[in-house]
Amino acid sequence: MSIRTGTLNGVATIEIARPEKKNALTIAMYQAMADALDAAREDAAVRAVLITGQPGIFSSGNDIEDFMSRPPGQGAHMAESPVYRFMQALLACDKPVVAAVTGAAVGIGTTLLLHCDLVYVADDARLAMPFVSLGLVPEFASSLLVPQLMGHRRAAEKLLLGEPFTAEQAVECGIANAVLPAAEVLPHARRVAERFNALPPGAVRESKRLMRAPQRAEVEATLRTEGALFAARLRSPEAMEAFQAFFQKRRPDFSKF
Ligand code: COA
Repeated sequence: MSIRTGTLNGVATIEIARPEKKNALTIAMYQAMADALDAAREDAAVRAVLITGQPGIFSSGNDIEDFMSRPPGQGAHMAESPVYRFMQALLACDKPVVAAVTGAAVGIGTTLLLHCDLVYVADDARLAMPFVSLGLVPEFASSLLVPQLMGHRRAAEKLLLGEPFTAEQAVECGIANAVLPAAEVLPHARRVAERFNALPPGAVRESKRLMRAPQRAEVEATLRTEGALFAARLRSPEAMEAFQAFFQKRRPDFSKF
C-alpha cells in the first residue's frame, strides 16, 4: 500500500509511502488520497488533515512511467482523471490541511503545498517544480499562485528555469511556515494539527472558506487551462525526450526541437 491513512486525536493523516520510487505518485495513489480527503471532510471527528511523506523524501512528483503510459485524459475526460480528482478534493477540503515535508518535494510534491494551510519543512527539504525541463507546463494552479506569492521574477527562476530551492527559501517566498530539524517536522506538524481540536470547528471551516474564496474561481479556471495544456504536452516529442532521458539516466537533448 503506497498511501497510508488513519485518524488519531482528530487528525486524519495521509502518508505517502512508496520510498523505493522516492514516493512518486501513481494513479492509484491519487485515488487513495482523494478518497482520504473526501472521507476526512465528511467525518465530524476529523478536525484537521496532515499530509506527510517518508523520512528524507516527501514526493518525487507524478510517476514518470504513468506520465508515459497512462497520461491523464484530454478534453471532457480530464475531469475523470484521478490526479484531477485529487486536486479537486484538496481544493474542496474545508478543514485545515497541514503538511510535513522532509527531503525532496518535486513537481506536484511542491505544488500541492500551495493548497495546504500550514506547511512545515525540514532543513534537508529541497523543493522543485521542473515542469518546463520535462517538456510540460506548470499544474495545480501554480502558474497563477507562484507568481502571486513571490512575484514574476522569482517565479520565473522556479517555473521557467526549474531551479530547486531550499527550505529557508520556501519560507522566505511564502510557501512554508517554518524550517525545523528533520526529526522534528512531523511531530511539530502533528501538534499544530491537533491544536484544531481545541478550536470551534464551524468557525475554522467558515474562515478557511473565506480565506480561499476570493481566488477560488480563478484557481479553478487556471486548473482547467493548465490541465488541457499539460495533457497535450505529455504527448509531445519534447516530453517524450525528457521522460526517456530520465529513465536512461542521461541529460535530455532538446537541441533538435
Ligand atoms: N517517477 C517514477 N520513478 C521515479 C520518480 C518518478 N517521479 N522519481 C524517482 N523514481 C525512481 C527512479 O527511477 C529510481 O528507480 P530505480 O531504482 O528502479 O532506478 C528510484 O525511484 C530512485 O530514484 P533516484 O533518482 O535514483 O533517487 P535520487 O535520490 O538520486 O533522486 C529525486 C531523487 C527525487 C531527486 C529524483 O528521483 C528525481 O528527480 N525524480 C524525478 C522527479 C520529477 O521530475 N518528477 C516529475 C515532476 S513533474
